[in-house]
Amino acid sequence: MNYKNNKYILKFKRFLYYIYGEKFFKQLDYNWSDYPSRSEIINKLIATKKYSSFLEIGCDKNVNFSNVSISRKVGVDPNSGGTHKMTSDEFFKINKEKFDLIFIDGLHVTSQVDRDIDNSLKCINKNGLILLHDCLPKKIWHQVVPCIYPKWNGDVWKSIVKSRTRDDINTYTIIADHGIGLIIKEKNKKILNLSKEKLKKLKFKDYFNNHSEYMNLISVEKFFDIVKQQ
Ligand SMILES: C[S@@+](CC[C@H](N)C(=O)[O-])C[C@H]1O[C@@H](n2cnc3c(N)ncnc32)[C@H](O)[C@@H]1O
Repeated sequence: MNYKNNKYILKFKRFLYYIYGEKFFKQLDYNWSDYPSRSEIINKLIATKKYSSFLEIGCDKNVNFSNVSISRKVGVDPNSGGTHKMTSDEFFKINKEKFDLIFIDGLHVTSQVDRDIDNSLKCINKNGLILLHDCLPKKIWHQVVPCIYPKWNGDVWKSIVKSRTRDDINTYTIIADHGIGLIIKEKNKKILNLSKEKLKKLKFKDYFNNHSEYMNLISVEKFFDIVKQQ
């Protein structure tokens, strides 16, 4: 039995969080089934850009990995799926390959996502793109770390906000499939000015009230306009 994900234990953890955690319970009202899925977006992107190599960090049951149509595919997961049974940190230590497209969907904890972004930037081809899953949690329960809710986005969104303050990368969030981050290795065209102190203290309330600006939200159509011009 997996005690960590037992629904009564998760409920108890939510009760503790309710007492001791951040009290902000407003919700964003995206209905993700109204938007294209990550696999549809990834396959259209591969066809548009004529990409030939793909790396997925965090594959689980290969729901996305097995749907991606491309000649070279590498998948990394310490538990299940993909082609390399190891953590992303272990993989990036031994990897010598470069990729056209990298999809980051491993451990949804901002410190790990920050490392996955930095390591991906070192092995992305010129004209390549980095996508990240789970950037738009709808409610506080979806983003609390460690996981206390079955559908977990974690605090990946904080890594996107941090990326938005860097001038060496250009970061957007596509409104589709729980929020898909986009990182382009080019000068930031719309830098977000937030102090390091503010970045360290980011709360769900800050995200909720400012998510359009903080995450640099774009539609799926706008995403394809951007990548066609890239
Ligand atoms: C949300 S699932 C991935 C889902 C998959 N990308 C998809 O679209 O269907 C997250 C996966 O990340 C894996 N994971 C956890 N920690 C990891 C790490 N440090 N490096 C790589 N993968 C990790 C977990 O084992 C889990 O299978």
